[in-house]
Order: sequence, then C-alpha cells, then structure tokens
Amino acid sequence: MGRGIAQVFLRHGFAVTLQDVSGEALERGAEAILRGLDRDVEKGRLSEQARTEAGSRLKTTAELSDLSPAGLLIEAVSENFEAKASVFRALDALCPEGTIFASNTSSISITRLAATTRRAPRFVGLHFFNPVPVMKLVEVVPGLETTEQTLEDADRIAQSVGKTPVRVEDSPGFISNRLLMPMINEAAFAVLEGVAEPAGVDSVMKLGMNHPMGPLELADLIGLDVCLDIMRVLYEGFHDSKYRPCPLLEKMVNAGWRGRKSGKGFYDYANQ
Ligand code: CAA
Repeated sequence: MGRGIAQVFLRHGFAVTLQDVSGEALERGAEAILRGLDRDVEKGRLSEQARTEAGSRLKTTAELSDLSPAGLLIEAVSENFEAKASVFRALDALCPEGTIFASNTSSISITRLAATTRRAPRFVGLHFFNPVPVMKLVEVVPGLETTEQTLEDADRIAQSVGKTPVRVEDSPGFISNRLLMPMINEAAFAVLEGVAEPAGVDSVMKLGMNHPMGPLELADLIGLDVCLDIMRVLYEGFHDSKYRPCPLLEKMVNAGWRGRKSGKGFYDYANQ
C-alpha cells in the first residue's frame, strides 16, 4: 500500500521519500509509482509537466535516518505489531518532536503503537484503502493521547490528497475491517464447507449485492496474510468466537498462498 500512498501524495504536490529495507522492493515500488503517474497523464488527471515534476519529487532510500526531515511519516509495514513498533521506536529517536507519526495499520491499536514512542499526542491512524489511487476513504483514528490539533492536521492532510477522512475510534478493525473481514472470513468458510466454489461465492455478491468485487477476489487483492492477521486481531481484541479465523485461510497462508502478490490465492494469477 505504501506505493499507492506515495503516488497520491506525489500527484497532489508533496515531496515523498519512500523507505524500505529491501532495495529490490524499493526499485519495484518506484517503477510502479511512475507507471501510476503515467496512467494519471493518460487519463487527463495530470499534465505531462506535472507528471515530470511529481516524478522528480520522489526519493527512495533504505535508511530510516533519511526520513528525519519529513513533516509527516506514514508507516505501511506488514500487519505485525512488533515489526511496526521497531520502526516507530527507531524513527522516534531520529525525528524532531513536531513530526506527525501516522500508521496505515488496518486493525492494530493506535494507542498501543503510539505508546512505543514519546510522541503519543502527535500520533494518529491514517488508514488508506486498496487500490489507494482509486479509493476515496481514509479512516482517521485517534489514540488515547492524540490531540485534537493532530486530528485536524490528519483530516486536512487526507483532504489535500483528494481523500475523504472519516473519524473512527480506536477499536479492533476500526469500522472498515470489523465489517469487511468477517464477510471475507465467512466466504472462506462457505468454500471450506463446499457450499460453493470461490467463483460462485463471488458471483453471488457481485450480481446479487452489487459489490464491485466478490469477497474472495477482494481477499486476494488485499492479501490473504493481511486478512488472516486482521481476523486474529479481531479475535484477540473482542474475545468472541464469531471472529475465529477460517482454517482454510490459515492453511492457504501457511502454503504461501497470499493472493495476487504471491501469484496464487482463491484464484490463480500465474499468467498475470
Ligand atoms: N492498483 C491501482 N489501480 C487500480 C488497481 C490496482 N490494483 N485496480 C484497478 N485500478 C484502477 C484502474 O487502473 C482504473 O483506473 P483508471 O481510472 O486509470 O482507468 C480504475 O482503478 C478502475 O479500474 P477498472 O475500470 O479496471 O475496474 P473496475 O471498475 O472493476 O474497478 C476496483 C476496480 C476499483 C478495484 C473495483 O473493483 C473496486 O472498487 N473493488 C473493491 C475495492 C475495495 O473494496 N477496496 C478496499 C479493500 S480493504 C482495504 O484496502 C483496507 C484494509 O484494511 C484491508
């Protein structure tokens, strides 16, 4: 999602530094962002000149220390508390007091992430949606100590990149994934129980409920590992068996089937 977030910030005039520990991921990310900006030109959303300028505002780095001049940091590390916390701890030591720290977490507590830093008042959830260049929503999530000023800054930032911010309290899965993930999980149970094939489940929701994608196609787009991580957060957060992750989802992730990004999920993407 980091790529999509970077693309919309570039499109709206910001300078962006993309950081990743993997040089290869950075290279692929930067290529995808530049392709996305080319697409914006084709679609008339950006002029040629604006695209060239936007491209020149993108920097990539493997070093966290290169992020210290930024006014806003948006973390999009994989959905694992320790992985995110270690990045935030390191950045907290590198960045000035006023820098806003934002997490794009889909479900992990903002209060808990903020507590890994000494800047809980300037820490906020900014939750984007896939595909980021297309989806209008950003969930803006306060932690326990987030100030109203930080929330106003977060709303303004979301609006300045063309998104609609919606304030949501810090509760497992916020609103989006509290509703979406149980549907995806239930769709996986329906496949496990042989009620229908994935294509049948998806057709029902597309043709019968006018969803733009079926839940299993969407799970493949989001990443099956991400879906499983979010179900675990819901299950542990609410202590309610209705959020138990579907064993089929667990099995697929254990096999390395993570959806589109791994070439296989509920559908096969080997030839795409
Ligand atoms: N990345 C970037 N852009 C993409 C894309 C992708 N993976 N998939 C489609 N697009 C772009 C297309 O390029 C196209 O853009 P242009 O205007 O430049 O042509 C635009 O989206 C529309 O695409 P299409 O005409 O090909 O297809 P569509 O009308 O079928 O729409 C869709 C595609 C927007 C993905 C649509 O199917 C949709 O809205 N699906 C549901 C997406 C959704 O629910 N997202 C939320 C997931 S939950 C999440 O992200 C958060 C979380 O915490 C898990």
